[in-house]
Amino acid sequence: MGTLAKIVFASICVAFLAVKWTAPRFDAESLRGARVLVTGASTGIGEQMAYHYARFGAQVVITARREKVLQQVAEKCLSLGAQKAFYVAADMANESDPDKVVDIALEKLGGLDYLVLNHIGPSPFSMWEGDVEHIRWLMKVNFFSYIQMAWKALAALEQSKGSLMIVSSLLGKMTSPFVAPYTSTKFALNGFFGTLQHELAMRKSNVSISICTLGLIDTEAAMDKVRGVTKVPAYPATDAALNIIITGATRQPELFYPWFTYIVNLSKDWSFSITSYIIQNSYNYIP
Ligand SMILES: NC(=O)c1ccc[n+]([C@@H]2O[C@H](COP(=O)([O-])OP(=O)(O)OC[C@H]3O[C@@H](n4cnc5c(N)ncnc54)[C@H](OP(=O)(O)O)[C@@H]3O)[C@@H](O)[C@H]2O)c1
Ligand SMILES: *[C@@H]1O[C@H](CO)[C@@H](O)[C@H](O)[C@H]1NC(C)=O
Ligand SMILES: *[C@@H]1O[C@H](CO)[C@@H](O)[C@H](O)[C@H]1NC(C)=O
Ligand SMILES: *[C@@H]1O[C@H](CO)[C@@H](O)[C@H](O)[C@H]1NC(C)=O
Repeated sequence: MGTLAKIVFASICVAFLAVKWTAPRFDAESLRGARVLVTGASTGIGEQMAYHYARFGAQVVITARREKVLQQVAEKCLSLGAQKAFYVAADMANESDPDKVVDIALEKLGGLDYLVLNHIGPSPFSMWEGDVEHIRWLMKVNFFSYIQMAWKALAALEQSKGSLMIVSSLLGKMTSPFVAPYTSTKFALNGFFGTLQHELAMRKSNVSISICTLGLIDTEAAMDKVRGVTKVPAYPATDAALNIIITGATRQPELFYPWFTYIVNLSKDWSFSITSYIIQNSYNYIP
């Protein structure tokens, strides 16, 4: 590395640490009795968030499509210390289910302190071959249901001075091969909820929005796709889950997890050709 590159890199690291150190302290007690709705909580990061909230003594409503699995997760939440644990089976591609889920959560919990939007529909990890219908469907699941649920819950979150957490991805900030449908939905989320962050701040709203940018996380769904294909390191789902919860509880507008996603985001636009070279060569692809 040249001297200039070293100085730039060191400055970014110092800036990053400064941001970390000045973040407000997380008080686990603040989550005792908190009323929480987590989507996509039958497996993966959502399931781990449900367990963390349970350990903190929260009241949780979890949702996903598979009722049997949700039931098991809810039972485990109770055994871990959740004050209450309910589950609602719902399909986020359905036009009425997103509203229905929020209504049920408000009814069961009598209000809402945290809405954690996390679910994603399955999507192939492959080059784009023209399946427009799949993107239309994925947009319903990964994007339209998010804005529908956020709007439905907003009044309750205003009342409780609550938080909305959007689980997004580095692939909502930069592009990569093999994930055109998925990355489209994440860019849409970042655009929409970035705008909403401005508008709520301008209106002096009580609600905080946290947009969470994750790198590769070791969930079964993700690892099944990229095992042996990418050199990018995977980070633990339980740690990602805890970081999202802390970001919401401390009302931070953004999370970058793992830490280097912050630096990747910041440096990705410095050189188009270098960034493209690194991304295209981070996969084992033989044409
Ligand atoms: N894992 C990673 O590497 C990674 C990286 C960056 C960002 N993220 C983000 O982290 C979040 C969680 O990812 P993950 O890896 O934990 O995902 P996952 O393991 O695939 O879990 C997805 C969840 O969504 C539910 N779901 C799928 N289709 C649904 C539908 N039509 N309606 C309702 N629920 C549905 C699934 O349950 P059912 O099948 O029971 O419905 C499951 O609970 C996502 O927003 C993802 O974009 C993950
Ligand atoms: C959505 O769900 C409702 C009831 O849960 C059902 O009546 C309706 O047909 C579903 N819509 C679609 C498009 O599947
Ligand atoms: C914010 O919360 C307070 C109660 O703490 C409430 O009186 C006020 O109406 C809320 N603001 C909005 C915009 O709802
Ligand atoms: C992420 O990258 C964009 C574009 O390079 C930049 O505008 C933004 O400030 C970055 N975010 C952070 C938190 O550094």
